[in-house]
Amino acid sequence: MKTVTDTFKILSLMFGPSRTRSRSVYDLLGRDYNLGQDTRYLNLGYWKDANDYDTACRNLALLLGQRAEFKRDDKVLDVGCGFGEQDSLWMKMFNPGQITAINITPLQIETAWERQAHPRIQYQVASATELPFASESFTKIIGLESAFHFDTREAFLKEAFRVLKPGGKLILADIYPYKTPANPAEWAFTWLIGGFWQIPLANSYDETTYRQKLSQAGFKDIQIEDIAKHVWKPFQHYAQERVNAPEIRKRVHPLIRKSWGTPTDVTNMIAYGIIEAHK
Ligand SMILES: C[S@@+](CC[C@H](N)C(=O)[O-])C[C@H]1O[C@@H](n2cnc3c(N)ncnc32)[C@H](O)[C@@H]1O
Repeated sequence: MKTVTDTFKILSLMFGPSRTRSRSVYDLLGRDYNLGQDTRYLNLGYWKDANDYDTACRNLALLLGQRAEFKRDDKVLDVGCGFGEQDSLWMKMFNPGQITAINITPLQIETAWERQAHPRIQYQVASATELPFASESFTKIIGLESAFHFDTREAFLKEAFRVLKPGGKLILADIYPYKTPANPAEWAFTWLIGGFWQIPLANSYDETTYRQKLSQAGFKDIQIEDIAKHVWKPFQHYAQERVNAPEIRKRVHPLIRKSWGTPTDVTNMIAYGIIEAHK
């Protein structure tokens, strides 16, 4: 029965008019629809020195943590924290003072509290576009593969700037097209491929526009590094095999397995950036 209702939900996300229901995506994925073995990461991973999904996701979190240069007196905000795997890792590896991790999906926050309890990590249900925090509350804001979902990313950048302390740093791993869609056919294609993942059309712009939006929000010293070659192809290569593992066949819906296991080469279309900006 779950398979039938989930089929309906998947199709309605893919072909329904909305591109802003990101919570519905992760409600649907629940606790079972992911590729991990020992972790519940929900990102594409950094595959430069990795051969399996858990390691690739962990390495991506480490890469972001290194760029953040966490210090013991840092007050960190993690936006779109998933199940909170990276927060425990950052605490263990870099020992920042405090992490507040927010997520729009209550089930993931509930699971994070169950699995990752640490006295200096707080998990909270909240939206990155309406941050329930006073201005200048945090020294670092970090988002591991989540900002492309926010409705809109631009609204989030303004909020991020507001809640960062002067001198604070924003670090994101984010997804955006190499080229902003320029005609109805390109917009239609963008609408179609962003369907299941509920990527708002307003977030489909290239690196130049991304930089402009960061500086319009007030950020300076902006750096963007594209690591797409260490993300898309190796993820797809791995996922093609992994979706056939008996354990995955048992717990992941066939349409989700199909989408993860179908090698669509997006390397020349979609960038995967590590974004750094300062207040
Ligand atoms: C691709 S997952 C990444 C999760 C986690 N960072 C990881 O790497 O495992 C994107 C996450 O963003 C969260 N999200 C989407 N829209 C959000 C919003 N407006 N505010 C906060 N979190 C949001 C989703 O619930 C999901 O957990």
